[in-house]
Amino acid sequence: MKALVLSGGSGTRLRPFSYSMPKQLIPIANKPVLEHVLEDIRNSGVTDIGIIVGNWAPQIAEVIGDGTRLGVQVTYIPQDEPLGLAHCVTLAEPFLGDDDFVMYLGDNMLPEGTADIAEEFRASRPAAQIVVHKVADPRAFGVAELDTEGRVTRLVEKPQEPRSDLALIGVYFFTPDIHRAVASIEPSARGELEITDAIQWLLDDGAEIKASEYQGYWKDTGRADDVLECNRHLLGTLRPAVLGEADEASELTGQVRIEAGARVVRSRIEGPVVVGAGSVIEDSHIGPDTAIGQHCTLRDTRIRDSIVLDGATISEVPGIRGSIIGRNATVGAGADVDLYHRLVVGDHTRIEVAA
Ligand code: G1P
Repeated sequence: MKALVLSGGSGTRLRPFSYSMPKQLIPIANKPVLEHVLEDIRNSGVTDIGIIVGNWAPQIAEVIGDGTRLGVQVTYIPQDEPLGLAHCVTLAEPFLGDDDFVMYLGDNMLPEGTADIAEEFRASRPAAQIVVHKVADPRAFGVAELDTEGRVTRLVEKPQEPRSDLALIGVYFFTPDIHRAVASIEPSARGELEITDAIQWLLDDGAEIKASEYQGYWKDTGRADDVLECNRHLLGTLRPAVLGEADEASELTGQVRIEAGARVVRSRIEGPVVVGAGSVIEDSHIGPDTAIGQHCTLRDTRIRDSIVLDGATISEVPGIRGSIIGRNATVGAGADVDLYHRLVVGDHTRIEVAA
C-alpha cells in the first residue's frame, strides 16, 4: 500500500501565517502538522508516500526532505492549480500505479492514529473505506449516510440539510478502482473535482464502500483557533524531560519538556509546556498549554495557552494568552512607548488589546 498526502492549497483561513509558510508546516506541540501526518501513516506500516505540493513546494521539501529522517520515502508531485481532491488522485496516478493507497489531507490531525482502520481496509479491501467522525455541524464537510449494517448508502459534499452527523475527516483508503471514478466525474459548484463525488460514483456503480468511525480527537487545523486547540490537546500527551538547563531559581511543574540547548532562568514553567532547542526564558512565567519554538527569547513575560514560532522575541509583556506569534516576530515594550501601543503589523493580522 502507498500513501498520497495532499499538501497544496493556499490556507487563506490561516493568514497571516500562510503568506510566508504553508499551513501544513504550522507547528503543533513544536512539530509541523505535516510531520504528525507522515508519522501516523508510517505507524500504519506505509512508507512509500507521494506528497501533492503547490507553490510552497520548496519550503515543504526543505523541512521534510526525502523523508529519511521520518522513516519514509517521499515523492513530491506538483500541482499547478488547486482543482480539487479528486484532481490530486489523477495527478498522482503515475506514482500510485495499480497499488492500494491511503489518501490523507495534510492539515488534518488524528492523534489517536489510523493504524487500526488501515488494518481493517487491508483485511477486506472494499473499493473505498472512508473515515468518519460525528460533528455538531456537518454542513461544512462531506457527509456520509449509512444503513443499519454500517454500509455507506450515500455521500454528499457540504449538504445544506445533512441527513447524518457523520463527517468525512480527511483520510480515505482506496483500491485502484478510484481512478475510473475520478476520470468520470464533473467539477462541483465550487469548480473542484470532489473526492466525495468520486466515491459516490463508485457507489452508483455498485461498488462496496465501507465507513469506519474514528473515535479519537480530530482537528482540521484550518484556522488559528483550531491550531491553538489542537496544540492544547497534543501538549497534554507530551513526554516530560529537561534536556536543556533550568537554574535553581526556576520552578517547573506539570508536564514540561525543555529541549537540548534551551535555558530557563529565574522563571516559572507551568506544564504542559514545551520549550524548543536553543530558546532562552528569563524572569518569565510560561504556561500552561504553551509551545515555544526554537531559538526564541522571552524576558519578563507572562504567556499561557499560546504558540510561539521559531526565532520570536517577547519582552516585558505582562499577559499574553490565546496567541500565535510568528517566526522571528518581536513583541514587547519599547523605549518610546508609554500609553500608546506601537504596532508594525502585517496583512490580515489579528490583534486584541486589553482595554
Ligand atoms: C474537504 C473535503 C470534505 C471533508 C473535509 C475534511 O473539504 O471536500 O469532504 O469533509 O475536507 O477536512 P475542504 O477542506 O476542501 O472544504
